[in-house]
Amino acid sequence: MPELQLPNADASDFRKLADRLQALDIAYYRDAAPQATDAEYDLLRAEYDRLCDAAGIPEAQRYTRSVGDDHVTGFETVVHAQKMLSLEKAATRPEFLPPSGIDESVALVQAEPGWENGSAWGRLRAWAERISESISISVEDLDLVVEPKIDGMSVSLVYEGGRLVRAVTRGDGTRGDVVTAQVVASGAAPVTIAETRKFEVRGELYLPLEAFRELNQKLSSAGEKELANPRNACAGLMKRKDASSLAGTGIRSFLYFIPAGEHQMDLPASQADRLKWLSALGFQIHPDLATCKGIDAAYERCRTFVERRDGLDHEIDGMVVKLDDTSLHAELGSTEHHPRWGIAYKFPPERKPTLLRDISIQVGRTGALTPVAELDPVQLAGTTVSRASLHNRTHLERLDARIGDTVLVQKAGDIIPQVVGVDLSKRPAGLAPFAFPIACPECGSAIENRGRGQDEHGREIELWACINADSCPPQVEGRLEHFGCRKALDIEEMGAIVASALVRKGLVREVTDVFSLELATLGQLNLGTDTEPRTFGEKNAARLLEAARKARTAPFSRWIYSLGIHEVGDSVSKALATCHANFTELATSPLLTKIVERADLEARRKALGARTEQNKLRDEAAKAAGKAEQAQLKEQIQTLDRELSQVPSEVGPSAARSLLEFFRTPRGAKILADLSEIGISPATEQRRPTVGPLSGWVVVITGTLSKPREAFKTMLEEAGAKVTDSVSKKTTALLAGSEAGSKLDKAKTLGVRVLEESELEGLLDGR
Ligand code: IVH
Repeated sequence: MPELQLPNADASDFRKLADRLQALDIAYYRDAAPQATDAEYDLLRAEYDRLCDAAGIPEAQRYTRSVGDDHVTGFETVVHAQKMLSLEKAATRPEFLPPSGIDESVALVQAEPGWENGSAWGRLRAWAERISESISISVEDLDLVVEPKIDGMSVSLVYEGGRLVRAVTRGDGTRGDVVTAQVVASGAAPVTIAETRKFEVRGELYLPLEAFRELNQKLSSAGEKELANPRNACAGLMKRKDASSLAGTGIRSFLYFIPAGEHQMDLPASQADRLKWLSALGFQIHPDLATCKGIDAAYERCRTFVERRDGLDHEIDGMVVKLDDTSLHAELGSTEHHPRWGIAYKFPPERKPTLLRDISIQVGRTGALTPVAELDPVQLAGTTVSRASLHNRTHLERLDARIGDTVLVQKAGDIIPQVVGVDLSKRPAGLAPFAFPIACPECGSAIENRGRGQDEHGREIELWACINADSCPPQVEGRLEHFGCRKALDIEEMGAIVASALVRKGLVREVTDVFSLELATLGQLNLGTDTEPRTFGEKNAARLLEAARKARTAPFSRWIYSLGIHEVGDSVSKALATCHANFTELATSPLLTKIVERADLEARRKALGARTEQNKLRDEAAKAAGKAEQAQLKEQIQTLDRELSQVPSEVGPSAARSLLEFFRTPRGAKILADLSEIGISPATEQRRPTVGPLSGWVVVITGTLSKPREAFKTMLEEAGAKVTDSVSKKTTALLAGSEAGSKLDKAKTLGVRVLEESELEGLLDGR
């Protein structure tokens, strides 16, 4: 599990949160290697939305999960007749939860200031008020249905002529993978039904708990890695290309939604009756459906259903509240992401008390010190937890958790358990507060306060770290492991154990030392202990050296990523490699300097704007001077924007700053020198800025065009333009096909030039 890096953005910087969300999405969806729990992710998302709300960023311009895609290579994909949307979420922020960790009744929640935004009830209430206003029914009179929210994998099933003709995964919401054979072979949904007319039904594929346990037992006795949870297991099974192997795996489905779509039949006019109709046709629908009058009753059903969660044979992660009258669904419509007729209530993560036996301090790759709770083992969300994160020094000090305390442990998703509270009523007399070490527990060097940051709940934290970046063993080991990881230089044999042995035996001090390792020494490397030695072996050593040899010419983006520079992740590295040919160019990049300069100018402009706004500059002359300076700054920024038009937007000011600083440190300089001495020549991925009729243009494409969008993108890029996703003040033109929607509206509002295909042809020809 990689170190969970907390965003250390200042409160107004929602862009950093968007980057963090994207990195988490990529890790989860593309790499199937989650880096945060679901609850942590949800909190980050909520925080991001809160900051965007505060900054007035409209929904259409916010980060959307473009990698939220379950597509698997080799599966046929199809476009959904109607986009598969998700639901708005209502969850209580941890600081609003009582020590019991469960949502409280309306009256108790409303006694807490800030409940409107901080609690699930506040969110549900706001949702109800919104729809109540639109359909003119009071929140007390809304007819609602409340269903369990199944923690599975969404699926769309199309029936025609009484047969299942197509089963498709959610994919990216627009286009999904065809899994008809898998659904049929697993018996997850009926193959034949009595209704012969064509219709689509959506629901959730899931693996019952018993089937999940059996599957894990099989995996474990075959010496394979067990699966984290039934949802991942179900998704993994459905992606098996050999469908016949799915028979007997126990996958099932709950169906819960009939999209308006193409069907031409009169369906029952309420959600509850539609579920009955589905059930009569032989579909499995969830038995715990409740109809509630008014939002208060619906919330009561949601929050109390948590008690029944453990008694179910499948996992649920919340409840879904829907407006029962389906004729009102179309009237309410949807946003780009969510239908307005429903909302998902998320259960708070499960918590349990246990004894805090000890607190150890872990040192990560960046030197960050993370306190870890050593606990009396406790059963939580299906696994035994004996260690839990205390996150950072500030969190630990706020909790005032002391060795010997009874603490509350929470396991939000399936990954990192955390200590969320202390049961003071159980504190034995005389327990001393925990003394945070004054030296690094690994190398004895001093520790430093790296300044302030924010945790995932937006609260200020102090970042403490070991100062000895050069030779503190876990830092060097962590960097070495990262250097060889799959997304970096892919030296598979150099995992955590080998990296640790290489560093602890003094064979590697800096990542570049990998290239001077010798076969004989490496083969003899002891991966075990002095009493129980385990040698690496010559064959493995040869494989490692061969992988290192290949890494010499790996793509430049992987090389950049491999150095593990703060803020420079995978996508930033890829973007950097498109506009820099090698490390020498990157280390002194004028583009990066300009990005930093632009951010500084922007900050000055904002500060000046705020001061002028607040009338702090009292007299008129000073105000006018302030305005003039602002205009001058704006001009300078616009000039820089033009100069930076070829730099991909992934490269933000914090990444640029961090990179330039890294190469100025002695370690950065040594790496540069080493690389040139060893003769490393990464494969260049540079896309030279094209000079063409549209150089400096920033173009957005929308609507239906005569050719696929990619074709237009290539054409535009070849003409020197940069193609981006959303319309903003920086956009030079919007290329709009037929049925252009919100982007066209926005372009018109902002006065952005709108181009038709024919006009573009003219421009490309230089006319
Ligand atoms: S109704 C707009 N009902 O939860 C989609 N969804 O974001 C209509 N889910 O992706 C969803 N149980 O996959 C609905 N009883 C239920 C559900 C449910 C689970 C999933 C669904 C959706 C996600 C919510």
